[in-house]
Amino acid sequence: MARRTGNSRWRGLRNLTGKFRLADILPSGRTRAEYTAFFGLAALDPKSRLLDCAGGPASFNAEMTDAGFSVVSADPLYRFSAKAIAGRVDETRAQMEAGLRANRHRFVLNGPGAIRRHLQTRETATSRFLADYKAGRRAGRYRVAALPDLPFAAGSFDLALCSHYLFLYSGHLDTAAHIAAIAAMLDAAPEARIFPLLDLDGEPSRHVDPVRAALEARGHGAAIERVDYEFQKGGHAMLRVWR
Ligand SMILES: C[S@@+](CC[C@H](N)C(=O)[O-])C[C@H]1O[C@@H](n2cnc3c(N)ncnc32)[C@H](O)[C@@H]1O
Repeated sequence: MARRTGNSRWRGLRNLTGKFRLADILPSGRTRAEYTAFFGLAALDPKSRLLDCAGGPASFNAEMTDAGFSVVSADPLYRFSAKAIAGRVDETRAQMEAGLRANRHRFVLNGPGAIRRHLQTRETATSRFLADYKAGRRAGRYRVAALPDLPFAAGSFDLALCSHYLFLYSGHLDTAAHIAAIAAMLDAAPEARIFPLLDLDGEPSRHVDPVRAALEARGHGAAIERVDYEFQKGGHAMLRVWR
């Protein structure tokens, strides 16, 4: 399966930044419970308008919408149909599982079957996303957009989130791209939160310190905060930045 990940449609697709191909990124989805832990959202004001950047096939939007929250997800992936996204997830499933099994020493795995349970959660999230996608796209909850180019008026949201894209793909995006992406999030919302702060190798992202320094130099506040979640070993912190 992993050998078949590069069908021509995906291989040829550059994201809007032109820095690297969307096909380089595995479209894996996380749940509302996971997002709540990544970003400390347990006490979220129900009136908050949330922007989920690089939302991918996460079920956060679907689950939050069901619970009465307002969430818009932005991702270049949303130019594709549900069928195409489902096909892409199918194509990359084996690659993701092989990566987890080969690098199991880098993850916090609680007991036998932990990898299977982790993958099952990804499946649950993706299925929930796919069931919501058509209606959500019609309602404007899934928007085709690639950081740092967000199609939203300044201040459209109260909080912007980014899970498993910035810092994780540190080898794909340079420091300037991270700064531009976070600046765009801070234009859309007064506060942005990013998780995790580790790269794909499970190492602290080399971009965190320079990005934080650059944002502070622009007058923004920034703090690294411990969160109640750890799957990548040592991956238990988010970056919180505010205007
Ligand atoms: C690993 S998935 C994470 C999905 C979701 N945030 C989650 O944690 O479950 C990474 C996502 O980043 C998206 N992506 C790639 N380039 C992007 C860009 N320039 N702006 C926003 N999202 C991008 C991909 O399409 C993919 O859906």
